[in-house]
Amino acid sequence: MIELDNVAYSYGGGELLSGITFDMQPGSFHFLTGPSGSGKTTFLKLCYGALVPTAGHVRLFDRDVRGMTRDDIAMARRRVGVVHQDVQFLDHLPVADNVALPLTVSGRTKIDELANLKELLSWVGLKSRADALPPELSGGERQRAALARAVIMSPDVILADEPTGNVDWEMSQRLLRLLVELNKMGKTIMIATHDLALIRAAKTQVQARVLRIANRQLQLAGADL
Ligand SMILES: Nc1ncnc2c1ncn2[C@@H]1O[C@H](COP(=O)(O)OP(=O)(O)O)[C@@H](O)[C@H]1O
Ligand SMILES: [Mg+2]
Repeated sequence: MIELDNVAYSYGGGELLSGITFDMQPGSFHFLTGPSGSGKTTFLKLCYGALVPTAGHVRLFDRDVRGMTRDDIAMARRRVGVVHQDVQFLDHLPVADNVALPLTVSGRTKIDELANLKELLSWVGLKSRADALPPELSGGERQRAALARAVIMSPDVILADEPTGNVDWEMSQRLLRLLVELNKMGKTIMIATHDLALIRAAKTQVQARVLRIANRQLQLAGADL
C-alpha cells in the first residue's frame, strides 16, 4: 500500500531520515515513536506524498511518488486519511461541515453520504456537537472531529500524527478504541506518538507493531515496551 525503499529525507541541512525501508501491509497496525524532532511527522508526510524523498523511492499503491502528478497524488490521498498534529478547521463552519469538507471538495454530497456523515459523527460521539463551531470544541472533541474527517472518504489507510497529544488519558483511550475499531474493520493504521502507556494499552487490544526512529533510521522496537 505504502512502500518506502531506501528512503532519505533532508530539509536542506543534514539528512533527517536515511536508509529507510518499510512496507505497510494491508490491515496492519503500527505505532511510530521517537523523540520530538526525530522525524515522525516527516515520515508520515513521506507516507502520504506530501513530501518527496530526497533519495530512494516511495510508492503509494504501487506507484512511485516521483512520477506522480499533483492530480495522481490527490487521487492517492483519497485512500489515505490523515489526522494532523495541529488540526486545522474552518472556524466559521459548523463541525459537521468541517468533517464533510473532503466530501464537499470532491463533489460527493449525495444523500447517502450525508447519512454516512451523521453516522460518523455519532460514532465519534459528536452527534450533539454537529452544529457547534470549532472554537467551541474541547481538545478531545477536536481530535475526534479530526478523526471523523480523516475517515469520511473511507480511506484504506489512516495515519494519525500524535492524535492524543493534547487530551487526557481517558480521551486518549477513547481515541485509541476508535482507531482499533477501524483496524478491525480492515483499515491499515499508523499512529505517531511518544506515549508509551498508550502503546501498552493498545497491545492488549490489537496486534500492533512499534517502529522507532533513532539515529535517522527506522527500527522495529522489541517487546520491551
Ligand atoms: N518544513 C521544514 N523545514 C525545515 N525543517 C523542518 C521542517 N519541518 C520539520 N523540520 C525539522 O525536521 C526535524 C524533524 O521534524 P518532525 O518530522 O516534525 O519531527 P517529530 O514529528 O518527530 O517531532 C525537526 O528538527 C524540525 O525542526
Ligand atoms: Mg511531529
